[in-house]
Amino acid sequence: MNTSTPSGTAPRDGLDAHATAAHASHYSRTAMILHWLIALLIMVNVALALSAESLPGEWVRPVIDTHKSIGITVLGLALLRVLWRVSHRPPPLPREFPSWERMAAHAAHFLLYFLMFALPLSGWMHDSAWKAAATHPMHLFGVIPFPRIGFIMNLDPAVKEPLHDQFGALHTYLGYALYALLAMHIGGALKHELIDRHSVLKRMVP
Ligand code: HEM
Repeated sequence: MNTSTPSGTAPRDGLDAHATAAHASHYSRTAMILHWLIALLIMVNVALALSAESLPGEWVRPVIDTHKSIGITVLGLALLRVLWRVSHRPPPLPREFPSWERMAAHAAHFLLYFLMFALPLSGWMHDSAWKAAATHPMHLFGVIPFPRIGFIMNLDPAVKEPLHDQFGALHTYLGYALYALLAMHIGGALKHELIDRHSVLKRMVP
């Protein structure tokens, strides 16, 4: 039995075996890479979306196209991350943490997983309902052809126009939920780091 794994779950690959066996209180290397890569891409994507309106006209289309490509990349990485999560048990939170804090952390993590899917999917739905979608095919990073959601793109324009606005509003509200959750997630990590002096951040850094 692998007693050094927090849950007794067997590590699945060489990197994970090393990471899990050597530091039972750390996430595996795969989990760390996925965490920081997704975090970086989400922040870049929010910055691109929020700056789009204030950019010179000729920049808007390439910036929004990059935003779409990064968003679809996040969707793929989120899928990998969920596969990692269901096949590995993360290191448990320190026993000293009060139950309300554990519950808040678990709720925030669950909702962040939800948003890693809901944000790209709502953006993709919004984009698929765009009236010019059929005449402006999507290419990931300008190179790889990527489909729109066919049944949305092919709807009657009278149905599609209001849907485009509604999906756009959904995308925006999910963005607001993301800001609130990120504040809670980062604020919680900083509280443990600076006030409680009981780091949880080090579990997610090599
Ligand atoms: C990590 C995933 C994503 C994040 C965090 C994200 C976030 C955002 C945010 C914060 C906005 C600004 C909303 C507002 O304040 O009104 C936005 C706008 C937008 N997003 Fe996303 N998004 C993601 C993925 C996608 C995807 C996959 C697509 C399409 C395939 C997409 C298409 C759009 C479009 C078309 C806009 C409107 C831009 C404009 O015309 O100003 N997004 N997104």
